[in-house]
Amino acid sequence: MGIHPVIGVDVGGSGVKAALVDVERGELVSDRPRLETPQPATPDRVAHTVAQLVDGLGGSSVIGVTVPGVVSTGVVRTAANIDSTWIGTDACGLFSKQLGVPCTVINDADAAGLAEMRFGAGRGRDGVAIMVTLGTGIGSAVFVDGNLVPNTELGHLEFKGQVAEHYAAAAVRKAQHLTWEQWGRRVGHYLTMLTTLFSPELIVVGGGVSRKFDRFADEIAALVPTNTEVVPAALQNRAGIVGAALVAAGDR
Ligand code: BGC
Repeated sequence: MGIHPVIGVDVGGSGVKAALVDVERGELVSDRPRLETPQPATPDRVAHTVAQLVDGLGGSSVIGVTVPGVVSTGVVRTAANIDSTWIGTDACGLFSKQLGVPCTVINDADAAGLAEMRFGAGRGRDGVAIMVTLGTGIGSAVFVDGNLVPNTELGHLEFKGQVAEHYAAAAVRKAQHLTWEQWGRRVGHYLTMLTTLFSPELIVVGGGVSRKFDRFADEIAALVPTNTEVVPAALQNRAGIVGAALVAAGDR
């Protein structure tokens, strides 16, 4: 049963976005305000930014938040693209205190994956499916018959002598002035490694860059074995917000 209204907040390495979500349909039912992720992205500063967005949306008694790091039982365990003081932080407690209502917290890619599997490109798909989010870093969500294996962190696998997200994240294309073709080949090689490890039936490519999937789809298709289907995220960069709200509604 859906609860209305639910606010989903997606905390990324570069931006924090929030919206009211219809959790039965997987749709945003408000604007999607965005604020820059504060630098340094310490827990208190991020919590303040989240509160600004939530206030702007009129608040809610049901709020789900994502964090770009490993989250286990509400506590953040890694912090590659946010301040290292997040490590060991009880994010659930922090956001609940700041917002005055009990909040749920989940890894950002896991949230995006849950939304895509429920409402988007992975809907109804059994077997092994992997969502990767290409942004400031690379996030991953692995599903087996629709069930999430949380905190897989496949962006931190070593690839070509470096952390994979330093090789193929969307931010790397800009930072290293790569063409779409050059960067697309990197993504293709990275996804090919994932197929070697997991033999997934499906890979969903998410993050803001999924809007421009046609700019690098050919490079991926040329490299990834054909028994793995590679598709862009249907919810694009709304997926994290929708997934955060789904978890908050207890509907995952
Ligand atoms: C973090 C992941 C996160 C990903 C995308 C990585 O650096 O370790 O937890 O999902 O970035 O934000």
